[in-house]
Amino acid sequence: MKRKKIVAGNWKMNTTKEEAEKLAASIVQSSQAFQGVEKIVFPPFPFLQAVKTIVNNTANFFVGAQNCNHHDKGAYTGEVSAAMLKSVGCDYVLIGHSERRQYFTEDNIQLLSKTEQALTNNLNVIFCFGEQLNERKNNQHFETVKKQLHGVLNFFPKNKTEQLVLAYEPVWAIGTGETATPAQAQEMHAFIRKTVAEIFSQEITEQISILYGGSCNAQNAPELFSCPDVDGGLIGGASLNADEFCKIIGSFG
Ligand code: PGA
Repeated sequence: MKRKKIVAGNWKMNTTKEEAEKLAASIVQSSQAFQGVEKIVFPPFPFLQAVKTIVNNTANFFVGAQNCNHHDKGAYTGEVSAAMLKSVGCDYVLIGHSERRQYFTEDNIQLLSKTEQALTNNLNVIFCFGEQLNERKNNQHFETVKKQLHGVLNFFPKNKTEQLVLAYEPVWAIGTGETATPAQAQEMHAFIRKTVAEIFSQEITEQISILYGGSCNAQNAPELFSCPDVDGGLIGGASLNADEFCKIIGSFG
């Protein structure tokens, strides 16, 4: 099986309902030529259902949530469960995004429970990880990424790895305008694939898509996506502009 090529847009805490619907409709329209690429958008919670309605009949186009709670249900005011996400038509959920780890102090125990909730409710998981700037400067980036991968994937059921996508997002590149060079990305993605082979198997690691994230845009995407172990991108800022996002979708050689 060939690995899926994926371009995913993380809208973060942006857009109103009207803007979200407009953005989704423009992306659907302008990305039609790129049938071979799986497209996923991650709108804010309140707009999931509206956006799902817009992309619903489009081939290879999915909707995901930016987070889910680690409990199944109950007295957790303000929180959203994986079952709720599934019930409004979500296909994916982001788990472990660096902003969640940093601002909401999510640790491996929570990330594991979130993953369990996602899988129980038949959602696909995009598991995000990546090193901080000081870790790269001190040459600890491989060690950090290895720990982040083992922390969650050691407990990920081997028979559910078709529901898993990985996203390497160096924290120093997120929203900073600074991107990993294609050489840096390829070096890390090859390391991730090797680490995942150790956790699961060589056969499984060959089938898991590994996305790059961090100031990815229409200019740098073609070179990044041409790296043999980079299977696409998780796009933040540049996913809020339909033209730019669709150029990224069209960046595979
Ligand atoms: P960015 O964000 O593209 O704005 O750097 C990427 C992400 O946080 O997923």
